Amino acid sequence: NPLHHKTYLINGELREWKGACDEVYSTISSTEQYAPTLVGSVPHLTEKEALEALEAAANAYGKGNGLWATMRVKDRVEILERFTKEIQHKRDEVVQLMMWEIGKTILECQKEFDRTIEYLYNTLEEYKKLDRDSAHFQKKDGIYAHIRRGPLGIVLCLGPYNYPLNESFALLIPALLMGNTVIYKPPKYGVLLITPLLEAFRDCFPKGVINIVFGRGREIASPIMETGRIDVLALIGNSRSAIALQDKHPHKNRLRLVLGLEAKNPAIVLPDADIDLAVKECVAGALTFNGQRCTALKILYVHEDVKEAFLSKFTEEVDKLPFGNPWEVNVKLTPLPEPDKPQYIQDLIDDALQKGAKILNKKGGERCENFIFPAVLAPVSPDMRVYQEEQFGPVVPVRFFTDIDQVREEIADSHYGQQVSIFGHDVYTLAPLIDAMVNLVCRVNLNSLCQRGPDVFPFTGRKDSAVGTLSVYDALRSFSIRTFVASKDN
Ligand code: G3H
Repeated sequence: NPLHHKTYLINGELREWKGACDEVYSTISSTEQYAPTLVGSVPHLTEKEALEALEAAANAYGKGNGLWATMRVKDRVEILERFTKEIQHKRDEVVQLMMWEIGKTILECQKEFDRTIEYLYNTLEEYKKLDRDSAHFQKKDGIYAHIRRGPLGIVLCLGPYNYPLNESFALLIPALLMGNTVIYKPPKYGVLLITPLLEAFRDCFPKGVINIVFGRGREIASPIMETGRIDVLALIGNSRSAIALQDKHPHKNRLRLVLGLEAKNPAIVLPDADIDLAVKECVAGALTFNGQRCTALKILYVHEDVKEAFLSKFTEEVDKLPFGNPWEVNVKLTPLPEPDKPQYIQDLIDDALQKGAKILNKKGGERCENFIFPAVLAPVSPDMRVYQEEQFGPVVPVRFFTDIDQVREEIADSHYGQQVSIFGHDVYTLAPLIDAMVNLVCRVNLNSLCQRGPDVFPFTGRKDSAVGTLSVYDALRSFSIRTFVASKDN
């Protein structure tokens, strides 16, 4: 049954919305006859409610003397522990909504929920440790300093559709723990799944500390930014939105950023690679959740000496990936949640074909409603859109090389710098390549796919891929500042 949700959270109250609502459709269909499925609706809030949410967050922060910012660490931990326990009862509801809204397989939705709970507990432990380690006295030149980590202020937080729970919480939770107050706007796809959690937010947090609003980015987030009262923009999504929102802020220099943006992570398959392993990791790396991950492998560089061995297996394995509805067992590929995405992927394929690439796998590009079967394209050249753009979907561009310096130069020239995967074993080739790569991206994966987890490892990127670092350890630091009280030894 569609979930027609009517409330939003401002200043500790779940306010009833009487105005227009935005309908939420799913591109998956449980009937033979395909038609987008209405899964629910959420309030279409306006600038007025957005500014009320801001006012609530600002009041809760006070003039730095709000209850939340000054609360003892122990009390804040207790609140987050209670919150974590409460939301666990909502697992099935959240997982079902997530599956319908974004078409992620049920298994992956369950993993996302469980990963989020684990992330919460780990972040709480890290927070206690951080407080123990970072609050300390230091004496120099007759001055005693009591140094600690404190909040940055008011955070506007926007999460992505591909991890609507986990990545939103990867921003929200550390921001809250460090004593900031927050306005959160969920993504357009993956918005309903937050609604079963609203009561837990209301019941656990002091009023105004967390405010959750629904609506369109330009009607909600833009007016908030225009006030110049936001201290931190925390966003996982695309650079276009991040830049547009920064531009709205009248005092950009005071705006801090925590951004997870695009990536075009390459895999490099060297001549001595274990081909079976490389194929397995590249299939999962490129096509898990249809390639809709910022960490997905979005271009493969394959050495000429192994291109036949690699590609014959790779294309065979891609064609074997089972497609279906996300609730079906063993399904790997599912319909795309964005209605216009298959056409975008088709356009990338057509552009590459016109410029000389071929589709290597038998099923590549087959379409059915909002599903498009992954196309393996080769040889891809720099003039093709699929080389230049972050496809964020089911198309795998392949380039061939003989000279590793050419690959290194291309990666160095890329706009992005998140991760790379290298498949090979010869230490004399690997050592200088790894040395170069860690200075171009932020994580080098040896003989394995690119990924964000485990969440205790730093998650960030260079260039247009990220600003600031997320992870259990780093996010608490990204959402805080070292402050101190100094007194003279008179
Ligand atoms: O979309 C970007 C996510 O951070 C990817 O996370 O590597 O765990 O799938 P993941």
